[in-house]
Amino acid sequence: MVKVFAPGVIKLFGEHAVVYGKPALAATIDRGIYVECEKEDKLIVETVGVPSSLRYFPAEKRAEALGSERFFAYIDTALRVAEEQWGSVRARFTIKSDLPPGIGAATSAAVSVGILKAYSLCAGVDVDAYSLAKLGHRVELEVQGIASPMDTAATSIGGVLKIWANPFRLEKLNVRLPPFYIAVLPRIGTTREIVAEVKAFLGRRRSAANIIEAIGGLVEEAHACLLAGDLECLGELMYMNNWLLGALGVVDGRVVTLLEMARPFIYGGKVSGAGRGGVVLLLPREGAMVERVLSSLGHVYHRVSITETGAAAV
Ligand code: PMV
Repeated sequence: MVKVFAPGVIKLFGEHAVVYGKPALAATIDRGIYVECEKEDKLIVETVGVPSSLRYFPAEKRAEALGSERFFAYIDTALRVAEEQWGSVRARFTIKSDLPPGIGAATSAAVSVGILKAYSLCAGVDVDAYSLAKLGHRVELEVQGIASPMDTAATSIGGVLKIWANPFRLEKLNVRLPPFYIAVLPRIGTTREIVAEVKAFLGRRRSAANIIEAIGGLVEEAHACLLAGDLECLGELMYMNNWLLGALGVVDGRVVTLLEMARPFIYGGKVSGAGRGGVVLLLPREGAMVERVLSSLGHVYHRVSITETGAAAV
């Protein structure tokens, strides 16, 4: 039996601006997607903990999973791409997630990449991380129509990464970071919708281009602070990045309240990903107090460590 872990991804700095040619800083975390592959006489996909409801047709003895159509679109496409690459594999694929889908933690990229990696190992091939990143991006493009290569590259390669989306380029940074907290807020809108609204806003308001420039500038400063291990600097830049994302219209009152309440106990915080809720990233000074704030606000949260490796057998 093969078991693969494909990590989730947090965006440390630079989301949205990355769409307009600036680099972003992203990192893989110790939560994500597990895919097992066990050879059998037919192809079966089992999911554990993926939310959906069932519709049962007694006459046909057949059930449909509702609410997981999109999730299955990634699975179908990843399996097809994998078969094209490595030939037919008959196996049972079991997929488990320890993050909720659609929050901006790259779970769809991790599912696509996790299936590709598990499939290749089941077929007796150990696909390298860069090929995996390309194939994963192809799956996301087919399912979503548009997709940045950031999440699939990060979950394939792992670690703290500086990423340029267009043309795609990536630099792995040799840095160590302490654990973060991620709070998970219900998200209003999909990445696609939010990215489209930001694009329309930038089209309407000429001066908003300065926000993108400012984010690009702070990513370079954050890169230097990461190398220096300067948490005070990183925290301050996280706040700055958050308010600049606010100026783009993707930070709402829930995030502002959370950051205000946590402020004495964190170096800094920001939304991570497209925004309008989803993941909020907190760099803690006092973890226990951060947990108290998050619990008192009723937020789902996780303490996450940054990982060094991308999708790999475990
Ligand atoms: O919320 P997520 O994880 O889908 O991240 C979106 C990141 C953006 O920079 C806003 C869009 C992109 O394609 O890079």
